Parts: sequence; C-alpha cells; structure tokens
Amino acid sequence: MTEYSTILVSTDARVGKITLNRPESLNALNTTMMEEVVRAATELDASPEIGAILITGSDKAFAAGADITEMAEQDHQGMYAADWFRRWDDLTRLRTPIVAAVNGYALGGGCELAMMADVIVAGEGARFGQPEINLGVIPGMGASQRLTRSVGKAKAMDMILTGRRIHAEEAERIGLVSRVVADEDTLAQATKVAELIASKSKPAAQMAKEAVGAAFDSTLHQGLTLERRMFHAMFSLEDQSEGMRAFREKREPQWRHR
Ligand code: CAA
Repeated sequence: MTEYSTILVSTDARVGKITLNRPESLNALNTTMMEEVVRAATELDASPEIGAILITGSDKAFAAGADITEMAEQDHQGMYAADWFRRWDDLTRLRTPIVAAVNGYALGGGCELAMMADVIVAGEGARFGQPEINLGVIPGMGASQRLTRSVGKAKAMDMILTGRRIHAEEAERIGLVSRVVADEDTLAQATKVAELIASKSKPAAQMAKEAVGAAFDSTLHQGLTLERRMFHAMFSLEDQSEGMRAFREKREPQWRHR
C-alpha cells in the first residue's frame, strides 16, 4: 500500500477516492500534494478494478489554491527549470473518468484542479474563483484556457481580471459545474455519480471521455471524425454486442469492464 502524506486514498465499488488532506492550509496544493494526487490517480487509472476516480477535499475547502507559502520565494529560473505545475498535465491525460466533489473554497489552483475533472458536483455553499490577480500573477494551472472554454470569454475575463468569487449557483448557470446539491449531500451525490459511471462499459466510458475531451483540443471536423472512428471501433468490443443484445432481450447488460 502506497504511503501518502497529503492525501487519503481509498477504493470502494469500482471507485477510487482521493481526499485532499492538508486542513491546516485549506488544502493548498504544494508540490508534494501535486505529486501524490497525480501518482495516486495514475495508479487508480491503471487498475482494472477501478472505473471512476473521485477527488474531494474538506467541508471548508476543496482547495484554496496553489501553496502561496511554497511559491512566494521562487524566482523565474527556479519556476522555469522545474516547469512548475507541469505535472498536473499528467492527470488530464488519464483515461478513467474523474468526478470532483467540491465543498467550500475552490480558488486558484483549486478551481483549476476541479476543472481537470470530467464532472463537478458542488455543494450549494461552494465558492469558485481565480484570485491570482490579487497576488500579482495570473492563473498557472489552466484557468485561462479551461475556464474560458467552459464558460466563455465574458465570464472568464470577469473572474480572472477581477478575482471575483462566484457561488455554486452561478457556477452551475454558466456551465462551470455539472450539478449543485445541498452541502451535506455533496460527497454522497458525487460518489453516486462516480459509481454510476464506473458501472458502465469501461471502454465506452473511456472513449466517451476521450471524444468529449477532443472537443476542447481540435477543429470540429477533426473532432467529428475522431468520434465517428471511435464509434466504428466500438463494434470490435464485446460490450457493444452485449449492450445491444441486452436491449433487445429486455435485460440489464453484463459489462466485461475491460
Ligand atoms: N496557500 C498557502 N496557504 C494558504 C492558502 C494558499 N493558497 N490558502 C489558505 N492558506 C492558509 C492560510 O495562510 C492560513 O494559514 P495560517 O493559519 O498559518 O495563517 C490557513 O490556510 C487558513 O486560511 P485563512 O486564515 O486565510 O482562512 P479564512 O477562512 O480567513 O480565508 C480564504 C479563507 C478566503 C480561502 C483565504 O485563505 C485565501 O484567500 N486564501 C488564498 C486564496 C488564493 O489566493 N488562491 C490562489 C493561490 S495562487 C494559485 O492558485 C496559482 C495557480 O493558478 C495555480
């Protein structure tokens, strides 16, 4: 069993759960936590027993951003040499669907980590924001790109230029989060979403994630071609024949999960 110092990891019902666990700093994302989240998620992604990954924080904070204490004394040479934050790219390359359960603050890198997930379930008291401008910098874990692609220029500029925090209700309205639930239900609801995804055909869920992801990273024509080719490829899978046979026989499909 791998030892971690900044996160907790558990598995249940085909879902691997990663809990950010630095309560003393509202889950500020330091280098160790970045390494541990990515390492744990990569191990879960490789497990045939896992069909979805759930990332969550505490009631007060999903994560209040990158660790300002760790960054404060850095200079350009050190940041550039370490390619600070690059490791997060590895999380976004995993094929297992990721669900974020967000209560409390999701600020700066916390909001950006949530946006690396495929589905965000937020408690009604959650607060999202990109306050980097108040620190004299700009977002560095993806917000200028992912937030803009999710909510459009008007809202992304507003949030990134002013540092304004938005409530979960506004976050849902503008397309930043998938669902808003009562704070006390966030983890349970997000777990249900993760379990539901994990109960589907694994290759179908992975290809669905890849195809939707391509909409952010390709022309419409390229994305449509990729989707169609993946759709064709699915006709080599047992899950395709099982799913369609089960529909015709009016029974639940039995997925192979591989
Ligand atoms: N980094 C390091 N420590 C942090 C932190 C962060 N991002 N956010 C909170 N903490 C620490 C505080 O320093 C404090 O520690 P001490 O008790 O040792 O003083 C502890 O967590 C509790 O925080 P507060 O006392 O400030 O709690 P609060 O309830 O009064 O305020 C808050 C909560 C509004 C979230 C406030 O902590 C805050 O504004 N945090 C910083 C948010 C921020 O600027 N995030 C962006 C970081 S830069 C970034 O993320 C770059 C990027 O793009 C990746």
